Amino acid sequence: MAGRALITGATAGIGNAFARALAERGHDLVVVARDTARLEQLAADLRATNGVEVEVLTADLTDPDGLARVVNAVTDSTRPVDLLVNNAGASLAGWFGSTDIADEDRQLDLLVRAPMHLMDAAIKAMSGRGHGQVVNVASVAAFTPRGAYSAHKAWLVNLSQWAHLHYADAGISVMALCPGFVRTEFHQRMGADISTVPRWMWLNADKVVATALEDLERGRPISVPSLRYKLLTALSRHLPAGLVAKIAKRGR
Ligand SMILES: NC(=O)c1ccc[n+]([C@@H]2O[C@H](COP(=O)([O-])OP(=O)(O)OC[C@H]3O[C@@H](n4cnc5c(N)ncnc54)[C@H](OP(=O)(O)O)[C@@H]3O)[C@@H](O)[C@H]2O)c1
Repeated sequence: MAGRALITGATAGIGNAFARALAERGHDLVVVARDTARLEQLAADLRATNGVEVEVLTADLTDPDGLARVVNAVTDSTRPVDLLVNNAGASLAGWFGSTDIADEDRQLDLLVRAPMHLMDAAIKAMSGRGHGQVVNVASVAAFTPRGAYSAHKAWLVNLSQWAHLHYADAGISVMALCPGFVRTEFHQRMGADISTVPRWMWLNADKVVATALEDLERGRPISVPSLRYKLLTALSRHLPAGLVAKIAKRGR
């Protein structure tokens, strides 16, 4: 039984790849984002191609009413969600301290408050049923100090690691997905200059999701797709603090 999955940020990039991969595996879906037309198009494609049920839920996760509607979908016992993918995200172009604090608040809402509320709702609903899975899309940015974005992702990785241990006995798997650079709309949306990022550092969203789903089935607490990023993250844990600080000063 594939069960029902709720994916935030399903209109583009990694969330869109999750939606397509899970529909292919027979999961019914709830797809969440702000752009209703794109969500409806995705839902129509997945229904036609995979014969699965797809519910469209338009919500801005930085808006308390929008977030509450998604929480309700996660806790609806008549249509249980077996897999939550906390994926929606974005980044600001500037560094913390130079950006508008109102924009930083919205970032905190999107990258921390929204996944926290949805994970809380999912764990409570799934504990009652004795099974469930949560994927929190973080980033390799979580492993080096590089401004507010990496701090938000570090928070998500840390809570995921703890929840993975704490809720295992309740039948709930929690995993943090930590990709490196992935070709999506992310950098274009934030207006970043990506011309200096070497080609070898770019990952494909479908491959990232395929690895994530394998790691989730294996019960891993953290998924770092691709050998190159596994090596880089392992290295970054053992680098001298001075070198980490140098890296932190360069780009996001
Ligand atoms: N791309 C990378 O290199 C990379 C690397 C590591 C981690 N990540 C993480 O991966 C996740 C997905 O990013 P991506 O690269 O796939 O980015 P993307 O292509 O820009 O997609 C972002 C998705 O999030 C949705 N979204 C953004 N703000 C939202 C809001 N306020 N409320 C609801 N939905 C919202 C967008 O949909 P709408 O615009 O329709 O709302 C879109 O579906 C993020 O958490 C990001 O931090 C990305």
